[in-house]
Amino acid sequence: MEMREERYLTFALGKGRLASKTLELFEKIGITCEEMKDKSSRKLIFENREKKLRFFLAKGPDVPTYVEYGAADFGVVGRDTVLEENRNVYEVLDLGFGKCRMCVCGPESARELLQHHERIRVASKYPGIAKDYFYNKKHQTVDIIKLNGSVELGPLVGLSDVIVDIVETGSTLRENGLEVLEEICPLSARMIVNPVSMQMETERVKDLVNRLKEQIGA
Ligand code: PRP
Repeated sequence: MEMREERYLTFALGKGRLASKTLELFEKIGITCEEMKDKSSRKLIFENREKKLRFFLAKGPDVPTYVEYGAADFGVVGRDTVLEENRNVYEVLDLGFGKCRMCVCGPESARELLQHHERIRVASKYPGIAKDYFYNKKHQTVDIIKLNGSVELGPLVGLSDVIVDIVETGSTLRENGLEVLEEICPLSARMIVNPVSMQMETERVKDLVNRLKEQIGA
């Protein structure tokens, strides 16, 4: 077979804490991206020329979009976003950090509304996950209201009966007199791969995933 030059593999990283954690992990397996550490930089794309890797930061919910269309070969984003966006991508690795839970939360008084399968109002940043949970798993008809943040306000100001949201330490709930009423699923950071990249670059993808796995296990 004719020798071909390795093409660049591109990573889309969800902005914020997950991205820093991801870069820390990559450093441990010898993949560095010095340029990206310069916080004052406004540059959007960074590369490691020696290893033929490129990185960019995107809004979390956009990461699966870049990966589905092949604009990025890989993505790192929370499982909440993978589930909500429901894109045509492969989930290949649980990176083990960013652990939290997707839950139905509300005041204690909402517990019986859930038990009796009442037609309640559910506020969430994750309408897709909320819908799947109530309609497909619980077979309960509810009204879902999409919010973009500070979702705990929903039950406090009378917008909704409950919320579907991420719980990490539980302190946001505690400080607002709310509690976990039902648990939907565990969450953590995931690595996703474009299906065509998976076919065309199988060896490089496998090699990278294996090295990360070893490092995570260590
Ligand atoms: C997330 C989540 C909860 C909170 C959970 O919100 O939506 O509100 O963190 O964390 P805890 O259990 O440790 O209190 P985030 O801070 O990301 O902001 P948002 O409300 O704008 O979504």
